[in-house]
Amino acid sequence: MKIKIKSGLLEISPADALVLFVREGVAGTSKKKRSPGSALTGIAGRIDKVAGGIIADLIKAGDFTGKQDETTLLYTRGSFPSKRIILSGLGEAEKFSADSMRRAVAAACRRASDLKIGSIAASLDDEFGDLTIDQASEALAEGFMLSGYCFDRYKADEGKKPRVKELHVYVDDRAGRAKLRNVKESLEAAETVCEAVLLARDLSCAPANLVTPAAMTRKAFELSAPNLKVKALGPSEMKKLGMNAVLCVAQGSNEPASFIIMEYAGKRGSDERIVIAGKAITFDSGGISLKPAEKMEEMKADMSGGAAVIAVMKAVAALKLPVNIVGLVPAAENLPGGKAYKPGDMIKTMSGLTVEVISTDAEGRMLLADALTYAAKYKPAALIDIATLTGACHVALGDNVCGMFSNDERLKSLLVEASSQTGEKVWELPLVDEYRELIKSNVADLKNTGGRFGGAITAALFLNRFAGDVPWAHLDIAGPAWSSSAKGYVPMGATGFGVRLLVSFVKNWLKRQ
Ligand code: BES
Ligand code: MN
Ligand code: ZN
Repeated sequence: MKIKIKSGLLEISPADALVLFVREGVAGTSKKKRSPGSALTGIAGRIDKVAGGIIADLIKAGDFTGKQDETTLLYTRGSFPSKRIILSGLGEAEKFSADSMRRAVAAACRRASDLKIGSIAASLDDEFGDLTIDQASEALAEGFMLSGYCFDRYKADEGKKPRVKELHVYVDDRAGRAKLRNVKESLEAAETVCEAVLLARDLSCAPANLVTPAAMTRKAFELSAPNLKVKALGPSEMKKLGMNAVLCVAQGSNEPASFIIMEYAGKRGSDERIVIAGKAITFDSGGISLKPAEKMEEMKADMSGGAAVIAVMKAVAALKLPVNIVGLVPAAENLPGGKAYKPGDMIKTMSGLTVEVISTDAEGRMLLADALTYAAKYKPAALIDIATLTGACHVALGDNVCGMFSNDERLKSLLVEASSQTGEKVWELPLVDEYRELIKSNVADLKNTGGRFGGAITAALFLNRFAGDVPWAHLDIAGPAWSSSAKGYVPMGATGFGVRLLVSFVKNWLKRQ
């Protein structure tokens, strides 16, 4: 998939199809909403004139209304070098956001891929509501890059989904070089971040026999660069450090645990650091507290938090952001077996706190406990963990929304801001003080489950003990990490949720300095 920037008017494009975005309610698109004087404007209006009013006719007849996700195909019959026009709805003007744009691009790409065509062209010389030209460029690139994804690398060619290979973005060069340069930079930056999202999706979709803790470690090492140092601790090093909470989870598996450390130094001479930590259970069978068989295959994606961290590190290093960030990825496989940890076991964590294991299926918080303790050695200015942690969070917030817990107002507001930019929804859940009782153990400092109710909260409270007073946020992505159907620019399967969110968070962090 490639994005190419072209200077000139969209009309001259020889691409297989021109994509035109149309808002709902223009040129009488909806009967109830006819606003007097609203005509087909911008590029669609210009093209319509040359094409003899065919678009306006279509709209007046009510055959295309501009609703979000609606598309229509037209043939230019020689009016333009390109053979086809795809109209794509942007939805209601009042609700317009970057996400409307991403979805409109995704819908157009879907139409193009159904037609098995290789290239589409669009222009940024239009009005896109409140979006700046940079935001519109990013949304365009994201809609294209993210919607075309399909995990079909293990299928024979004839079974693969056709992909739209190229997006040509036209910018009127009479608008000056500055605009062209701006758009080019925004498109390239968005492309870089999307490549990272696709890496996260690839890792999460890939099965657990291929993506083992060792394979994730190799992937991280592949990303090493002069500004990105990658290390990994094996079982014996972890043992020396007392990281028993990571080690116990891996005991039942033949795959050794790995603790991946990625250090990005983008701001020399500063010791301010952000640390992000991601849960990487390459397969979660539940262990001795075995999960039911139904949908257990989806637990190959229980490393999505770790994949997001690796992907974010790749993106920030490629973007050369002026910031220091450490990515921590504790990786293990959770299986039952003769050596597996058991309910009732007592584990001394790296922090010194002891944990009574109630359920071996509450393994994510075990891994993260040691990761958060390890993170403290960096004295982070911000510490964020991301994990497919609890089914309870999935139940509470559904498929699309991530649960956010934090002890720090500034972190929260930066994450909420990032969320509104990227369209990855987050919702704050409370760290209810009284519920700390629920994770007290009779025999240890803590137990690893807090009962049936408030499961996302008790899991977060458990992590909170290990994060201590560091400004910390916990993102529970059990719902949004995996999508059971394709929606807009989010494909079926692993979504790569959190990658764009955390990259935006880092950018916002920099702006606030
Ligand atoms: N990885 C699961 C959580 C999960 C469930 C993620 C469904 C995505 C989809 C986690 O390790 C887990 O098993 N959590 C338990 C915790 C319980 C034993 C306290 C859960 O949610 O049931
Ligand atoms: Mn589990
Ligand atoms: Zn898990």
